[in-house]
Amino acid sequence: MRRAKITALGTYAPPKLLTNADLEKMVETSNEWILERTGISERHIVEEGKATSDLAVEAAKRALAQRGVEPSTVDLIILATVTPDMFFPATACLVQDRLGAKAWGFDILAACSGFVYALSTGAQFVANGSAKRVLVIGADSMSRILDYTDRATCVLFGDGAGAVLLEPAEDGEPFGVIDFLNEVDGSGGTSLSMPGGGSLHPATEETVKKRMHFVHQDGRQVFKYATRKMYEVSMALLERNGLTVNDVDVVLPHQANKRIITAATERMGIDPSKVLINIGRYGNTTAGTIPLAMQDAYDQGLLKKGSLALLCAVGAGFTVGTALVRWGI
Ligand code: ACO
Repeated sequence: MRRAKITALGTYAPPKLLTNADLEKMVETSNEWILERTGISERHIVEEGKATSDLAVEAAKRALAQRGVEPSTVDLIILATVTPDMFFPATACLVQDRLGAKAWGFDILAACSGFVYALSTGAQFVANGSAKRVLVIGADSMSRILDYTDRATCVLFGDGAGAVLLEPAEDGEPFGVIDFLNEVDGSGGTSLSMPGGGSLHPATEETVKKRMHFVHQDGRQVFKYATRKMYEVSMALLERNGLTVNDVDVVLPHQANKRIITAATERMGIDPSKVLINIGRYGNTTAGTIPLAMQDAYDQGLLKKGSLALLCAVGAGFTVGTALVRWGI
């Protein structure tokens, strides 16, 4: 078994911005409420005519360029999203074609835990020797499934993408995906969902009238679950690796709400200067948040060669995803 190492990172957020001031003109809300309750100031929004694959391709190209390798050298593409371009074909297939890669690939649907699920899945293919170069992408265009008349959800999300390359670590090298711990609790399925458009409620005039093709959520339930699970599963992962929070150099949490991140990491007892929070500039980009946090941590020098990073996410499902990564770039 070989450890999978992250050898490149690329991210992309579309240039168009939606600020709290813009939202004040669309729904009954205020900059103060949004900032205080969520920590968000602005989000990036995908342009008309563009889709999740466009964000994913751009992020992937940046990762490939950082590594200086051709798309044809990628064996496998794993793409996490809840906003595929279409139900099918998988967005991973569209990305494969657009990149000119020869890889096989598939999508993963685990909402906000999607990037961690894709990373832990990709790491297995590298570890067992069946892939040498895996492109792991988290990408979402949440603006496409938001009800911009519902102030409780439309202020929370934005659009963005990130990609990493996974390759086998050299013998004896400490870098790579050390371990992961993922969970599912399907009893939370109704707390956060897009009820329309699937086989249960296929699109009809009625589903459109009932606004079933948008994000629906019980914010308080999700908040409570996310805060508790982000803490519990992160601690369990550290413990089973014989580590404590003092060994962690940087926490890269899913960015759903600044208060969720602060509550969970305060309970962990981790130094706040080690916790990357960039929700202010992006909102919740679902599968995009962790690679976007990785990028900021890397650019700020918080994430450097040898750093131990704790990735943790909670999302619709409910899904929980945590991973420990020794950074090697
Ligand atoms: N502007 C002004 N007022 C608002 C807004 C808004 N945008 N949204 C809701 N309110 C009002 C509510 O109507 C309510 O008014 P009421 O008391 O008169 O009924 C009041 O604010 C308080 O509402 P709460 O829902 O209790 O507010 P809360 O403090 O819980 O914050 C929030 C709501 C931000 C949605 C929070 O519950 C949250 O972040 N939950 C987590 C959900 C999440 O981030 N999900 C994303 C994906 S899942 C994941 O990643 C974990």
